Amino acid sequence: MAWKLGLILLILSAWALAGSADATAISGISSWFNEYKYTVCYGTNQTPFLPGPRIVALNPKAFSLAACGQCLNVTCTGGLSVGDNPCKANTPGVVVKIVDNCGESSCNDLNLSKYAFAQIANVNAGDIKVSYQSALCQ
Ligand SMILES: *[C@@H]1O[C@H](CO)[C@@H](O)[C@H](O)[C@H]1NC(C)=O
Ligand SMILES: *[C@@H]1O[C@H](CO)[C@@H](O)[C@H](O)[C@H]1NC(C)=O
Repeated sequence: MAWKLGLILLILSAWALAGSADATAISGISSWFNEYKYTVCYGTNQTPFLPGPRIVALNPKAFSLAACGQCLNVTCTGGLSVGDNPCKANTPGVVVKIVDNCGESSCNDLNLSKYAFAQIANVNAGDIKVSYQSALCQ
C-alpha cells in the first residue's frame, strides 16, 4: 500500500517537474531604454550581454538574482491603443538576456534595450504588448 502511494507521488512529482520545464508564454507590456551603464546583474561589465545589445530589465516583482543571465524570447503582439500596429512584420521574436532589475515603480513587465525593441516593433510606439517565454541564449 505504502509503496503504491510512493510510486504515485514519484510519478506526480516527475510530471510536475516536466511541466515546469515547459516554456509557457506570458503576456505583458514592454517599454524600452537607451542607457545601460550599470546593471544589477553585471555592474558595469557589458561583456555578458547578447550582442546588439539584446538585453532586458525585469519588473521588480519578477526579478531575482537567479534570473540573471537567463534569456527570454520576446514577441510583439500589438500596440496599447486600438488600431495601433507597431509590431514589425516577419519578426518571430527577439531573444534577450536578463541583466537588470527595472527598479522603478513605473516599470512595465519588461524594459527592453532600444536595439532589442527595434527588432520587433517601431520604437516610436514607446510601449507595446508582448508575449514572452524562456529561451536558450543565442
Ligand atoms: C520566439 O517566439 C516566436 C513566437 O512564438 C517563434 O516564432 C520563434 O521561433 C521563437 N524563437 C526562438 C528562438 O525561440
Ligand atoms: C527602463 O530602464 C531604464 C534604465 O534602467 C530606466 O531609466 C527607465 O526609467 C525604465 N523605464 C521604465 C518605464 O521604467
